[in-house]
Amino acid sequence: MDKTEKSTDQQKLANHNGDQVVSPNNKVIERAIVKDWDREIQKGEDIEKYWAMEAEQLDWFKKWDEVLDESEKPYYKWFVGGKINLAYNAIDRWIKTEKRNKIAILYTNERGDEIKLTYYELYREINKMANALLNLGIKKGDTVSMYLPMCPELVISMLACTKIGAVHSAIYSGLSSVAVVERINDIKSKVVITADGTYRRGKIINLKSVIDEAMLQCPTVQTVVLVNHTGRYNDVADLRGNEIFYERLIEGEGDSCYNEVMDAEDPLFILYTSGSTGKPKGVLHTTGGYMVGIATTLRNVFDIHDNDLWWSTGDAGWITGHSYTIYAPLLLGSTTLIYEGAPDFPDPGVWWKIVEKYGVTKFYTAPTAIRHLMRFGKKYTKLYNLDSLKILGSVGEPINYEAWKWMYEEIGKCRTPIMDTWWQTETGMHMIAPMPVADLKPGSATKPLPGVNIAIVDEEGAEVKKGKKGYLVITKPWPAMFRSLYNDEERFEEVYWNHFPDGFYKTGDMARMDEDGYIWIEGRSDDVLKIAGHRVGAVEVESAFNSHPSVNETAVIGKEDPVKGQLIKAFLILNSGYDLDLPFKDGSNTMLREELKRHVRHSLGPVAVLGEMVSVDSLPKTKSGKIMRRILKAKEAGEDLGDTSTLDDL
Ligand code: PRX
Repeated sequence: MDKTEKSTDQQKLANHNGDQVVSPNNKVIERAIVKDWDREIQKGEDIEKYWAMEAEQLDWFKKWDEVLDESEKPYYKWFVGGKINLAYNAIDRWIKTEKRNKIAILYTNERGDEIKLTYYELYREINKMANALLNLGIKKGDTVSMYLPMCPELVISMLACTKIGAVHSAIYSGLSSVAVVERINDIKSKVVITADGTYRRGKIINLKSVIDEAMLQCPTVQTVVLVNHTGRYNDVADLRGNEIFYERLIEGEGDSCYNEVMDAEDPLFILYTSGSTGKPKGVLHTTGGYMVGIATTLRNVFDIHDNDLWWSTGDAGWITGHSYTIYAPLLLGSTTLIYEGAPDFPDPGVWWKIVEKYGVTKFYTAPTAIRHLMRFGKKYTKLYNLDSLKILGSVGEPINYEAWKWMYEEIGKCRTPIMDTWWQTETGMHMIAPMPVADLKPGSATKPLPGVNIAIVDEEGAEVKKGKKGYLVITKPWPAMFRSLYNDEERFEEVYWNHFPDGFYKTGDMARMDEDGYIWIEGRSDDVLKIAGHRVGAVEVESAFNSHPSVNETAVIGKEDPVKGQLIKAFLILNSGYDLDLPFKDGSNTMLREELKRHVRHSLGPVAVLGEMVSVDSLPKTKSGKIMRRILKAKEAGEDLGDTSTLDDL
């Protein structure tokens, strides 16, 4: 960008009134694969034609007979009759090309360790692991759970599963043993792959002890595979009867393995996420459509070229990690950087040091990380050369203007557009997002991508006027859509499909569309909190509190937080004799407040960050006894209480 362009954009930002437009510079436009945003969106109007065209970029063992089958709504089927394999497309097909010796994954961590695996090396490792899993008796359709940090073995294990048709379920390594038990037992995994620990802020977090605790309650697990990632284990003698070191497991395994011929609609993975009720939802994704959706969107939104170095900070325990840290970049034959550790250790320059060292070209992260790093000022972004960056991206929650501006000015130096991508665990792929040639409005994820159809509607499903807030719905099926909730079709239909007229998918978000057709996300319409970009269900937190002997009943709402977006605010009815600010037990030094914090953290893991706890005498409830969190939220925000006719007289 020349100087005049830069100053114009800066001026625009300085004058920002919530609706400013930031245009891409000529270099971005010259490089872009998609040159005409509007035309590309138009191409997607015929969804079947568009997605069939995009499906051609993959290698199918057998092409589909029908692009979309809508006969059993909402159980849509994509690429019906098509046969394909993810690992084959992500790895095997590249080793027959000049990409064979290209780096596929570049692992680094907060300690500065580094592991690089070429496509060929990764191919061999995946095959060895796939053979080992077969030897453990894992067959097509069996489930394998993983509780691993971001490390090469996680990528290898996920791809080894997809190679032989096993369904993987990665569990975020920050979740508690209670959450692990729930997720393993729901899908009855026979094998769990874990590690001794993970590096975080200079410490080693013990993951094995979480698995040890969980295994007391997971009867289906026959084998625990242990990656000696941080080298805590010296000897096989340290292991229990059903545990085996990863290294030992793959020792002597052959480095070639067949690819299971998967039906396009065969299950690929299950990933748990929080909903409005207590039990986590096992979001089920299938094979063909998912691959088409993620490969297309990554290429278009982040303009992926052969020489890119892609870095998504999304952990593979979440959907961003599945779709965009691991699978999509490999499906495009790109190099993906995976990072383990904190964004601010050993100092808040650690990410920028990595960008400089390796020459990262595309960088995708969450607003909460940006807001956290902003607090350390501009020193660290100035210390390193960030000129290699070409496109930045944001995901997980609305990005506030200050964070957008900091990202644009301090990281991108006013040269790199920011792709604000709206999507969900359930959607599998980006749904509302710009492309690099788009005119951006800071804080808006812009428009639906080609082949994606959305509307903003009222309670009855009628479209609301431009500028008005309403429910965000997706009006037509898309290829990477989840196909069900594992073992819970009733909940699948109830939560997502029954609320609005036939065929409208309820996202759970509120939004508005401006005069230019840009979409502004206005937060969730349900009782799901977004803490540092993670979904945490209010009911899950309430149940965790309620399981403590001191608590009679709890209501939880989100409390605004400048860094994490939201934190938990809990209203507690305590059992008689308890006080938040008195010792929890006779003779104990621990105040009940601290004890409850520990208890909730133990149940839900560190994702459930407590902001405030207050003790109350009663909670607002409907006449049928349902807690009205809406009333608590309105009171908290100092707003009008709205319709309280259903409120019980307390
Ligand atoms: O509320 C929206 C918010 O995150 C929710 C989905 O959360 P999850 O399934 O955990 O997936 C996060 C990563 C894709 C959405 O319903 N959300 C996600 N991206 C954005 C967003 N809100 C505003 N802007 C975004 N770019």
